[in-house]
Amino acid sequence: MTLPAAPVEIVHYLPAHHLERSLRADVRAGLTAVPKTMPPKWFYDRRGSELFERITGLPEYYLTRAEREILARHAPEMAAACPAETLIELGSGSSRKTPLLLSALKAAGSLRRYVSVDVSDSALAAAAASLAPLFPDLTLQAVAADFETQLQVLPHEGRRMVAFLGGTIGNLERAQRAVFLRNIRQLLGPGGGSLLVGTDLVKPAGILVPAYDDAAGVTADFNRNLLRVLNRELGADFDVEAFDHAAVWNPAEERIEMRLRATRPMQVNLPGADLTVGFEQGEELLTEISAKFRPEGIAAELAEAGLEVAGQWTDAGGRFAMTLARAV
Ligand code: AVJ
Repeated sequence: MTLPAAPVEIVHYLPAHHLERSLRADVRAGLTAVPKTMPPKWFYDRRGSELFERITGLPEYYLTRAEREILARHAPEMAAACPAETLIELGSGSSRKTPLLLSALKAAGSLRRYVSVDVSDSALAAAAASLAPLFPDLTLQAVAADFETQLQVLPHEGRRMVAFLGGTIGNLERAQRAVFLRNIRQLLGPGGGSLLVGTDLVKPAGILVPAYDDAAGVTADFNRNLLRVLNRELGADFDVEAFDHAAVWNPAEERIEMRLRATRPMQVNLPGADLTVGFEQGEELLTEISAKFRPEGIAAELAEAGLEVAGQWTDAGGRFAMTLARAV
C-alpha cells in the first residue's frame, strides 16, 4: 500500500504585514505617479492565479504551450549540461511545466530537492499537492517570498539550478532585470550553479496584442482583478467595471503594456492607504509590462551579470526561447 504523500509545508518569508505594508507602499507610490502604475505581482490572489491559469489555455496565449514544447524536447539536454541537486523555481505558480524538468534532472541522476517560490499561497499549495505524488522521493519545499527582494532566503548549498519560466522576467524593466540577474549570480556563487530562463520573443504586434487581449475577455478580467485586490485589501472603492482593459505594443521598448483605462472621470478612495486619487476620463493605469526579447539580447544581459550561456533553445515556431546560463 502506498501512503498518501505528506502535505508540503509552506514557509513564509513575505515580510510581516506584506499585504498591508508593501501593497500600501506600492499603491501610494504608484497611484500618485504620472502616469499611474502598479507592479504586476498584485494580480495574483486566488482568483488572479486561477485567471492566469485560464489564460495559459487560451488559443491566443501561445507562450505556455511554446515553453512546454521546448521543455518536452530539450529538458534532457538542459539537465545534462547542468545536473543540479536542487531545482529552485521562481514565480512557480501552478508548477505545471515543472515535471518535465524534474523528470529530466532525476534521470540525470542528480536531483534531490525542489523548492518552489511564489507570492501566491494558494498556488504554492495546489502545486505542491499535484507534484508530491509524482515525485515521492524528492524533498519538496514551498516558499512564499518575493523573488525581486528576497532571494537571500533561498538555499545556498549544493549545486542549484534556478528556473524562471513563463517569460516572467519580462515583467521587470531593463534596469530591474540587471539588478535581479546580478542577485541570481550572487545566490548561485562559484559552485557551478545555473539559471534557466524562459523569454517570449519579439514578433509582430498582430500576434502579440491578441495574446494579451483575448476574444473571451479572460485577460481583461485578470487585469481588472488588480482593482478587486485593492478594494478588498485596502477597502478601496474602485468601480471595477468602469475600467477598460487595454493591451498596447510599445515598439520602442519592445514590450506589451497592459493598462486599465478609466471610462469616466472618477474619484477613488483607498482608506487602507490613506489616499484618494482622481482619474480623468481616458486616463490609464499601467498594470504590467511584458518585455519581449531577441536571442542575442538575452545572452548580452546574462553576460553583463556574470552568467555565461550554456545553451539556448526555441520552439519549432521560433516564438519563445529558453536559455540556460552558468555562473562564471
Ligand atoms: C506570467 C508574467 C509571464 O507576462 O505573459 C498573461 C502574465 N499577463 N497575460 C505574461 C500575463 C497577461 C504573464 N507572465
